[in-house]
Amino acid sequence: MIALEKAKRPLKGDVFVPGDKSISHRSIMFGALAKGTTEITGFLESADCLSTIDCFKKLGILIDHTIRPTHGVPTITVHGKGLHGLSAPDATLYTGNSGTTTRLMSGILAAQPFDSTITGDMSIEKRPMKRIMTPLNQMGADISSVLGNDCAPLHINGGKKLHGISYRNPVASAQVKSCIILAGLYADGETNVFEPALSRNHTEIMLSSFGADIHNEIARDGSAVAILKPGMPLVGTKINVPGDISSAAYFIAAALMVPGSELLIRNVGVNSTRCGIISILKQMGADITLLNRDDSQESRADILVKYSELHGNQNNRFEIGGKDIPTMIDELPVVAVLAATAGCDTIIKDAAELKVKESDRIATVVENLKAMGADVEPTDDGMIIHGGKPLHGADIRTYNDHRLAMSFAVAALAAEGTTRIIDDSCVMISYPSFFKDLQNLLQ
Ligand code: S3P
Repeated sequence: MIALEKAKRPLKGDVFVPGDKSISHRSIMFGALAKGTTEITGFLESADCLSTIDCFKKLGILIDHTIRPTHGVPTITVHGKGLHGLSAPDATLYTGNSGTTTRLMSGILAAQPFDSTITGDMSIEKRPMKRIMTPLNQMGADISSVLGNDCAPLHINGGKKLHGISYRNPVASAQVKSCIILAGLYADGETNVFEPALSRNHTEIMLSSFGADIHNEIARDGSAVAILKPGMPLVGTKINVPGDISSAAYFIAAALMVPGSELLIRNVGVNSTRCGIISILKQMGADITLLNRDDSQESRADILVKYSELHGNQNNRFEIGGKDIPTMIDELPVVAVLAATAGCDTIIKDAAELKVKESDRIATVVENLKAMGADVEPTDDGMIIHGGKPLHGADIRTYNDHRLAMSFAVAALAAEGTTRIIDDSCVMISYPSFFKDLQNLLQ
């Protein structure tokens, strides 16, 4: 349990946030499938990414993840064995709380010559896996839900010959897209994954840097396709992981909520498929500037954010929906917190995917916002927040969802009285030093 009070003074200064979670997972996975060594700097040492390391160790990959200084920078080295170098695990692969590990690994395992079983914690065992089993089985794989409930544990019978497919995913999901692409690396033809909007494209960017023939095409209506031509060897490379925009989002929100604040958040990934929060908050009146932008490989920049009063468009309302949703899906809980303090009504729609994240984030965000005195109602695909009601401290139930714990720690800074985050340890999943970093800014 951690107790937080309303911020007594503005938040000022520089912050570095830990490495991007999505990019860190992929650096280990693709490094393992490449020939030769991959050196990773900026890697996120959090529970989720350590689950990915653990799975690959069980598949026979040597990974030096003791932080050892190379030119003064902590580096993780993955000794990749090539696409066909994994060996059969002698136990079930355990992915903890990580949906990315579970779904992307399943794509890799579906193409191996050996059998495997993969599962995670109680939250993972409730999350939908049909969305990956259907396309993988269409490719010729044999993957099934052990309990027959379309959830993990998943069992994979190995030794199947995979075929490239053209798959139309009804939702924009980088986990589904990446799972299919990883299986597609082993297929005998081209793989195309269509989605209604471009989901985060870290897989495409990073696989290209390992030598794969993969690219995105985006249609006029914003729908997208990832096209992979298999056959190119993957070769170990160097990866520098930028800071995670999803972690930076908590400090962006904190600075926007506490009057007089000004924060510079350094070296944050600003890939356009992840940056919806910045453009949406700017439309709501946020003073946010990107400095020192570097667009080589994964774009990165320093984010300067100054306290601002947020407002709506016409009729004092603001709508967030459509193609913006996939670009800020993990930031919606903290955006909902900000919306509760904004001077307008905010409608979040087209975000039914929130229900199948680490918790049902429509229900859990609404429950905790209400506990703090906000005027908010859930909808089938989002929520309606009538901003401007004063927030008060409350006991926050996180449901072991890291993004809930961090979002409501930010809410506490604008709430009268004490807010207690009942289970704060879940921040280990993506940002182990979050409370320490926040406290440093509050002193
Ligand atoms: C992720 C994709 C997103 C996101 C998750 C990480 C990834 O999930 O919510 O936190 O690394 O590919 P979906 O693909 O289910 O939208």
